[in-house]
Amino acid sequence: RTGCTTIPVVVHVVHRTNAENISDAQVASQIEILTADFRKQNADVSTLPGAFAGLSGDARVTFELASTDPDGNPTDGITRTRTSVNGFTDDDAVKSAGSGGADAWPADQFLNVWVCRLAGGLLGYAQFPGGPAATDGVVITHTSCGNTGTAAPPFNLGRTATHEVGHWLNLRHIWGDDGTGCNGTDFVDDTPNQGGANVGKPAFPHVSCDNGPNGDLFMNYMDYVDDDTMVMFTNGQVTRMQATLDGMRSSIGT
Ligand code: ARG
Ligand code: ZN
Ligand code: CA
Repeated sequence: RTGCTTIPVVVHVVHRTNAENISDAQVASQIEILTADFRKQNADVSTLPGAFAGLSGDARVTFELASTDPDGNPTDGITRTRTSVNGFTDDDAVKSAGSGGADAWPADQFLNVWVCRLAGGLLGYAQFPGGPAATDGVVITHTSCGNTGTAAPPFNLGRTATHEVGHWLNLRHIWGDDGTGCNGTDFVDDTPNQGGANVGKPAFPHVSCDNGPNGDLFMNYMDYVDDDTMVMFTNGQVTRMQATLDGMRSSIGT
């Protein structure tokens, strides 16, 4: 498809402590960041080295908090659920009321985002297209949600959700998920072959897998660097996400 797709989002805030019950403003900041990043409207895209600037693409997706709930009633697109769970894991318990979380809204119509306390330093996780509807969506820890409230450096610019929604639209990690090897692939043609994940704030260029002189595209949302260091999707990644919107996720958005 050409043009933009607007995706209705429901944010399920699942909280044990008052801090975990993040504000509407913190949720809103995350939605704004998602749209900016997926429309290439993020100001920090200007920090890309010249050698990589031409790779950066507008993903043509915008995000809005849902205004109508699954029963057809008005909503602010945020659900709030108190839990006794002190730190969720990636076992999907947060996605079900029966295990201390909140049930998904119909995944063919909504992007479900759960915000909770994740244990063990996990920032977030996502379900790829094609999985069960009841667990479809992304989960992010509250300290990496948006850019205000409990958001804490170096993951306080809302990029965990950008990364996880990239997975939800079928993007793979840019290093190809083969540890530090040079044989993995992200199934995208314009991303340089890259050894392993980058973390923190690498210096440009970071060369691996004979990908010099420009090296790894560590400024990509699908690497593991700090929020202030990831600033772009590539045109090839945009093509892959748009194919998902035309295919396995064609029921969602307008
Ligand atoms: N799934 C990844 C993790 O939990 C998310 C990485 C997000 N990176 C970021 N800079 N926000 O480790
Ligand atoms: Zn990831
Ligand atoms: Ca690799």
